[in-house]
Amino acid sequence: MCGIVGAIADRDVVPVLIDGLKRLEYRGYDSAGIAVIDGDDVRRVRRTGRVAEMENAAAQENFHARLGIGHTRWATHGGVTETNAHPHISFGELAVVHNGIIENHEQQRDRLRAEGYVFESQTDTEVIAHLIHFHQKRGLDLLAAMQTAVRELEGAYAIAVVSKREPGHLVAARMGCPLLVGLGDGENFVASDVSAIVQATRRVIFLDEGDTADVTRESVRIFDASGTPIEREVHVSDVSLASLELGPYRHFMQKEIHEQPRAVADTIEALMDDGKFTAELFGKDAGEVLRDVEGVQILACGTSYYAGLTARYWIEAISGLPCTVEIASEYRYRDVYANPKNLIVTISQSGETLDTMEALKYAKSRGHEKTLSICNVPESAIPRASKLVYYTRAGAEIGVASTKAFTTQLVALFTLTCTLAKLQGRLDGAQELAYIEALRQLPGSVQHALNLEPQIVAWSERFAPKQHALFLGRGVHYPIALEGALKLKEISYIHAEAYPAGELKHGPLALVDEAMPVVVIAPNDALLEKVKSNIQEVRARGGEMFVFTDADSRFGESEQVHVIRTPRHVGVLSPIVHAIPVQLLAYHAALARGTDVDKPRNLAKSVTVE
Ligand code: M6R
Repeated sequence: MCGIVGAIADRDVVPVLIDGLKRLEYRGYDSAGIAVIDGDDVRRVRRTGRVAEMENAAAQENFHARLGIGHTRWATHGGVTETNAHPHISFGELAVVHNGIIENHEQQRDRLRAEGYVFESQTDTEVIAHLIHFHQKRGLDLLAAMQTAVRELEGAYAIAVVSKREPGHLVAARMGCPLLVGLGDGENFVASDVSAIVQATRRVIFLDEGDTADVTRESVRIFDASGTPIEREVHVSDVSLASLELGPYRHFMQKEIHEQPRAVADTIEALMDDGKFTAELFGKDAGEVLRDVEGVQILACGTSYYAGLTARYWIEAISGLPCTVEIASEYRYRDVYANPKNLIVTISQSGETLDTMEALKYAKSRGHEKTLSICNVPESAIPRASKLVYYTRAGAEIGVASTKAFTTQLVALFTLTCTLAKLQGRLDGAQELAYIEALRQLPGSVQHALNLEPQIVAWSERFAPKQHALFLGRGVHYPIALEGALKLKEISYIHAEAYPAGELKHGPLALVDEAMPVVVIAPNDALLEKVKSNIQEVRARGGEMFVFTDADSRFGESEQVHVIRTPRHVGVLSPIVHAIPVQLLAYHAALARGTDVDKPRNLAKSVTVE
C-alpha cells in the first residue's frame, strides 16, 4: 500500500527519493509524488500512474534539493487523482506525506475550515498538513507543532513533514503504521520500509507506537508517546539488494517461485543444525510458553490464512491439540471464546497487515498471553507485538502474489507442529528423526516440482482463454486448492473457486460443463481413491480435468483427464510440494493473458488499512 521516503543530506536528495519510491512500488500504489525544500520554496511534483512518470516530470522541472519527502499512494479517501496524491501542502509552507487512515478527519476538517483553511483534496492527509500549520502559526516550532497535531488525530498514521520555516529539519511520527529512521554519514532518512533506503544505509531505528522523531543531517532525536526523549536500538538490516532486483527473471513472481528451494532451506537452517525440534527455535523463553498449551488458534489473512488452514490438519493429527483457524478480519469483530492456555499464532508475510495486527491485539485484550508470530519481515509490527517469533527466511517478497512466503510459512508451521507434539509427549525419537529427514529432503522435492514448468506452460495456454476455473482438493490438499484458486484469480483475473472434492455434489457440480476447467490436487494419500471417485462426477458431466498428482498415484490419463506428476510422494509434506505447480499455473496463465503479474489491478502487497 502507501509508501514513505524522506531524506536530509548535503547532496541532492531527489535521486534518493525517486530511487526509494521505485523500491516501494511493489507494495502497490496508484500515484506518486515528492516535495522538496528548495531555498524559500516548497516545490512539489505529483503524478497518477507510475513513479517513472513522476520522475520525468521532476527532471523536466529541474528538481534538486537537500531536503525532501516522497510518497506512493494507494487510494483510500478520495479517487486516484493528482490532487489527491501526496505530498499535501499547507499554505505553501509545509508538506506532509502520510500512510494510514485518520478516523476523525471530518471533525478536524470542520474545525480547520472555521479557522480559514481551504481544502483542495478529498484526502484525510490534507487535514494533517493544515493542522500542523495551524499549530506552527500559534508559535510552535515544527516538531512541537507536529507533536501537538498528532495528539489530536485518531486513527493510524506514519507521517513525514518538511517545512520551509525550518529547512534543517525532517520530522516524523508513527502510530499504527510502520516507520523507521535511517542513519547515514552526515545525512539521515525516514522510510516506511527499509528497502526504500537500503542503498543509502542499512543502519535503522524502528520507531515505536506513538514515537515522534526530529531528524537533521547530523542528529536524530526520538520522543516517546508522552514526548519524553528516548533512545531506541539501532539495527543493521540484512535485506539483500539482490532480493530487491529482478535479475534474469521477467517478473518478481517468477523469480520468487524459483527461489523456493533456497527459501525453504534457509527457513529450516537452524532446525537442521540442531537436528531436533526444540522450543528455542521460537525464542528464548518459548519452552515456558509452549509447554502447557491446550490448543492453537491461528489468525491470518489471504494466503497466510491458507497456510494456517493447512497447518490445522498437521497440528490436530500430529500434536493432538485442537486447532482453529480464522480470518483475522472476522475474528477481531466477534465475541470470541478465549482460553488463555491456547496459543495464538498469527501468520503474516509482511508483519504489517492491519487486520491481523488488530486480531492479535484483540486476542491479547481477551486474556491471551501466549502469542506467536510467523513472519517474513524482521522487526515488523506483528512480531514485535508477539511473545514468540519464528521468522521465515524467504527474503524480500516483492510480487503482490505471495509464493515463497507461503511455502516457508508451511515449513515454519510444520516445525511448530512437531515441536508442540514433542512437548505433548506425542513424538517419539524415531518419528522425530523421520520428520527431520523429510524436511532435509524438501528443498530437493521443491526443485523437482519446479522442473515441471514446461508441462505447466502447455496447460496454461489452454487456461488463458477461460473465464472460470474450479479447484478441488481433499484433506490437507484442500487449502492448496484454495491457494491455487486465489493465485489464479489474483493475477490472471480468471474467476476461480476451490472446493473440497467431496463437496462437489452438494452444489458446485452444477457449474461443470465443457467450458469449465477443473484443477485437481490429488497426490497419493489416504484420500486418493475418494478423489478419484469425485472426479468421475466431473467426467460424467463433460468437464475437462487437470490433475496434479505424484508418481505413485496410478492416475489414468484420457482425452478429458490431463495429468502432471511430481516425481515422488513426500508424505506429510506433500502440500508444500503441490503448492508449486498451482503457483506456476497461475503465473503462466497470467503471462498468456498479458496482465501486470507483479502488480495486479486493485491489489496492494501490504494491506495496512481496514
Ligand atoms: O502480509 P500478509 O501475509 O499478512 O498478507 C496477507 C494477505 O494480504 C496476502 O497473503 C494476500 O492474500 C496475497 N496477495 C496473496 O497472494
